[in-house]
Amino acid sequence: AFNNQKKTTIEGKGVLNNRISEYILTNLSQCGIKTHFVKRLNMREQLIKKAEIFPIEFIVRNIATGSLTKRLGISEGTVLERPLLEYCYKKDELNDPLISKEHIFSFGWADENEIKQIDKMTLRINDLLSGMFRGVGIKLVDFKIEYGKAWNKDTEKKEIVLADEISPDTCRLWDNITDKKLDKDRFRKDLGDLIPAYTEVAKRLGILHEQSNVSVVNVTKLSSIKRKKR
Ligand code: TMP
Repeated sequence: AFNNQKKTTIEGKGVLNNRISEYILTNLSQCGIKTHFVKRLNMREQLIKKAEIFPIEFIVRNIATGSLTKRLGISEGTVLERPLLEYCYKKDELNDPLISKEHIFSFGWADENEIKQIDKMTLRINDLLSGMFRGVGIKLVDFKIEYGKAWNKDTEKKEIVLADEISPDTCRLWDNITDKKLDKDRFRKDLGDLIPAYTEVAKRLGILHEQSNVSVVNVTKLSSIKRKKR
């Protein structure tokens, strides 16, 4: 968290994120969003298309929290009238600073057509994900996504694809009724019970059976020897 300033190892988180991200990217793909995802190989690994990643984090906000409230003094929990798109330059040494479209064009990190296409895809993804989570009693507060360019062997051209992962590590997810945080803020804010929260998300999405009790031991046993870095 906080660009590697706060670290720990949480057994079983990678396994849950792998399943959740598989579910989300597969569903988005079925709705016509091009992604880098090919298939999940095992509990901790995925097969993905090689993509040249844009050095930009695309953030969408539906409810004000996190850095937005700190930066602009917007009250925590304010429901935004329309989704807010933000761009950050992917540079750990600089703490992934917020940038404008003009920075993107000036420094050639993406061109105007690419950003136009990405903005449209991002808003569509926000609509699809908001609906997916609303259906299981979760508010999609905000999230971060990344894009890359991957080769399409049918068209024999490079195309923009959604890349990286979408999971409770990259989204803020609040219970619809209680506003309980079901995401990485449980670690960022020392709230504890991170694995139960991620498990709750997986269960509500129907990825894990309601009765399954994913303890750290179970998850570790199920996982393959090859470990996905998380
Ligand atoms: P923020 O409020 O800290 O700017 O975060 C906005 C959203 O983007 C939140 O869902 C967390 C996500 N995010 C990441 O996944 N990785 C990052 O490096 C950053 C800065 C944010």
